[in-house]
Amino acid sequence: MSVITILGAGAMGSALCTPVVDAGWEVRLWGTWLDDHLLDAVEAGQPHPRTKVPLAEGVKLYRSAQLDEALEGADVVVMAIASVGVPGVLELALDGIAKADAMWLTSKGFCPDEDGRIQLLPDAMRAIAAAKGVELPPIVAIAGPVKANECAGREPTATIFGCKELEVAQKYAREARTDRYAIEASDDEVGVEICAPMKNVYAIALGVADGLEEKTGVPHHNLKAATFARAVREMSLLGQALGARPETAFGLPGVGDLEVTGLSGRNKVYGVRLGRGEQAQEALDEMTRLEQTVEGVPAVGLAVQLVEQSAPELVEEMRLLKAVAQLVAGDVEDPQEHLIPAVLPARP
Ligand SMILES: NC(=O)c1ccc[n+]([C@@H]2O[C@H](COP(=O)([O-])OP(=O)(O)OC[C@H]3O[C@@H](n4cnc5c(N)ncnc54)[C@H](O)[C@@H]3O)[C@@H](O)[C@H]2O)c1
Repeated sequence: MSVITILGAGAMGSALCTPVVDAGWEVRLWGTWLDDHLLDAVEAGQPHPRTKVPLAEGVKLYRSAQLDEALEGADVVVMAIASVGVPGVLELALDGIAKADAMWLTSKGFCPDEDGRIQLLPDAMRAIAAAKGVELPPIVAIAGPVKANECAGREPTATIFGCKELEVAQKYAREARTDRYAIEASDDEVGVEICAPMKNVYAIALGVADGLEEKTGVPHHNLKAATFARAVREMSLLGQALGARPETAFGLPGVGDLEVTGLSGRNKVYGVRLGRGEQAQEALDEMTRLEQTVEGVPAVGLAVQLVEQSAPELVEEMRLLKAVAQLVAGDVEDPQEHLIPAVLPARP
């Protein structure tokens, strides 16, 4: 039986336990020093506090001090840590990860290197490991429309595994698939990794449209749909500029994940607050108090830098990205008027 060790016992780490248990793997779930209360609840027989779904049966739990034990003999290690914590957890787990056949990555984000250049998460992770003289196994980037609670509860879910080595993505797509968790295999690691954090950024703008509806009582569905189309266009353009396949932005990691994130994710909820008229910092503070990490906020500034550094020809074109950056920075008085020029096509 293959052994999989999932690092991070938050919503996604605990949710991923369900399909891999169902697919017949031995599953270990390691909680960081921030996860003790989550593991306490699960051990007390309660549903997982983030997903509200009971943890899949048979999962072995490990506390933060038991990292080596959790990694011992793991065939696959999964990084399911919020992007801000990924470099630190990677360094702690490096030896165990290096011995595994593959590392799966559900974390979404960009990561600046020492010189301030913005990297996609897999490249940043390989660089962190290389600086310690360690070569990481193949990285399988996981993305797509996967809400943690639905995945945990065996609701029908489709996801994508992107790995530079297609046969590795295909192997795990076969071995982790269940009747309720379908996996597409792709060799487009770059495309998957661009869409994953970018959709968090754009979901903030989708939330603004919903917040405007709450504030005014008037639906803003047209604005929301136009924002959606603009977001997909920008994800596709950026992906292609960095070497991704054009179709990736139009598949599960782009359109699919943007749709689900724009329906109910934390980034959308933050955008709703902005659309309702809350100040950017005040809204973020409240989300933090509720333990709701809004990954699109740190991602947007890094995405702007990524475009400037690696695709400068797109700086003008990525106008929705720029508009979200200004929103998040608190530089905007009227979110609707601010979004309109970024979203509605210009006069011919
Ligand atoms: N929730 C979803 O539906 C979903 C779906 C797909 C992917 N993801 C991605 O998976 C990753 C985890 O998301 P989640 O929903 O499980 O979030 P979560 O907040 O429920 O859990 C975050 C995990 O990261 C750890 N963490 C947070 N800050 C840290 C720090 N500074 N240092 C070390 N560890 C830290 C926490 O202890 C926890 O294990 C994110 O990158 C997210 O975008 C989430």
